[in-house]
Amino acid sequence: MKEMGIQGFSGSNFVDLGHEIKSVVYCSDCHVDGSAELALPRPHAQDAMAKIKLPFDKQDSTMQGAQVCGQCHVSYYFQPENNNKVNIPWIFGNTADTIEKYYDTRRFYEWIHPISKTPILKARHPEFEHWSRSAHAKKGVTCITCHMPETKDEQGNAFTDHKVAAAMDNFEQACSSCHGSKAAMVTKLDKIKANIDAKARNVESLLVQAHYEAKAAWDAGATWPQMNDSIMAIRHAQWRWDFAMASHGLYAHNPKEGVELLDKATEQITYGREALARVLSQLSVEKVEYPDYSTKEKAHAAIGFVEADAVKAKQAFIKEEVEKHWHPVAKTGY
Ligand code: HEC
Ligand code: HEC
Ligand code: HEC
Ligand code: HEC
Repeated sequence: MKEMGIQGFSGSNFVDLGHEIKSVVYCSDCHVDGSAELALPRPHAQDAMAKIKLPFDKQDSTMQGAQVCGQCHVSYYFQPENNNKVNIPWIFGNTADTIEKYYDTRRFYEWIHPISKTPILKARHPEFEHWSRSAHAKKGVTCITCHMPETKDEQGNAFTDHKVAAAMDNFEQACSSCHGSKAAMVTKLDKIKANIDAKARNVESLLVQAHYEAKAAWDAGATWPQMNDSIMAIRHAQWRWDFAMASHGLYAHNPKEGVELLDKATEQITYGREALARVLSQLSVEKVEYPDYSTKEKAHAAIGFVEADAVKAKQAFIKEEVEKHWHPVAKTGY
């Protein structure tokens, strides 16, 4: 990035620069080169933290620890008008509502849904956002506390465990000072997860039906003025569902917000389907054909996606690009 400038770097792709990858997550992703001091090398992360009034240089090491993870475990998109530069869309804030407001005012979409013609927003792993509003964040419990806890070596010297992995494996070091037993915590997490998963499956089913109902309306000659409300409702409901589901570990990080997002998505998609039912009735459409999407294979068939072709294309890329031109670390991860 230093050599090409941010614009030049942003305009490049994996074929242009893949051979430069020498590791996946390296010391200098989180530290000032050759030092234990924390750093935030990605310019879009520097900008984003300033937007939410947490400029990196002004934070203590506790918040800085979470921010280094938040360079990657965060929602972002590529700005098409800016050479596909990475942008973290937090000008109005980092909640689902304020990010949606940013995208809506820019009339941004990632793609037009081929079935319903909805201009879709895509959420990408907003772990930092969800953690930042949690009870844990308020107590100064960060990503580091749970995923990189302080550990002691054989001589009894304390150090930060750099094997970033499952937090529950660290229960003794990371949780037991505040929470009773590991078994009780496992039960609690299972219960929260089951509740969130059930809500998500319900929203997914409603969303799929809405996409096909919109298709039936378009096929019957619906116009944009007729469809506007329901298409916006699909966009907003799918955004909230995605902002919850794309957040890895949501059930542990901020289950309350997860439930609120899915409840709001249910409300929005129900409203959208009611609006669609009115349009369908105006157009005298009596029956909507919903495909069978009860298994992954059937869902793929319904949209004409051939998984084997996608796998073949990926294998060809690995054979022609990765194996010929990339450093072996790209295949092992370390
Ligand atoms: C994903 C981010 C991340 C990466 C990658 C990373 N570190 Fe760290 N490192 C941290 C955090 C967070 C701390 C704790 C800092 C604090 O609490 O002030 C830390 C602490 C340290 C410390 C201080 C001693 C200690 O144990 O707390 C050293 C030394 C260190 N890291 C070296 C390295 C080296 C060398 C690498 C590469 C092999 C590396 N780190 C990779 C995030 C990272
Ligand atoms: C440079 C980008 C980057 C940074 C910085 C980063 N991560 Fe990740 N992290 C990733 C990617 C990419 C994956 C997915 C890897 C995969 O699927 O193979 C991942 C995966 C994980 C996982 C799942 C690991 C597993 O075994 O399933 C955890 C937990 C995690 N990261 C926590 C953290 C924490 C905590 C920090 C900060 C100390 C951090 N990450 C910093 C990019 C990053
Ligand atoms: C209170 C402790 C806690 C905090 C704080 C925390 N996590 Fe987690 N995280 C967990 C637990 C528990 C899970 C569920 C799976 C596990 O045991 O790691 C999890 C899951 C994850 C996963 C998914 C891993 C997978 O295998 O699916 C990622 C990625 C992750 N956390 C990253 C982060 C990041 C980044 C932060 C800070 C912004 C953070 N976590 C803050 C406890 C925590
Ligand atoms: C410094 C104390 C502290 C540490 C360390 C800590 N927690 Fe917590 N945890 C809290 C507090 C405070 C709450 C909020 C309790 C409440 O609101 O009733 C909480 C709540 C939770 C909740 C319920 C979340 C919700 O919103 O309902 C879960 C799950 C949880 N913690 C898991 C963990 C796990 C797993 C770890 C270790 C990986 C951990 N915590 C480490 C203090 C801590």
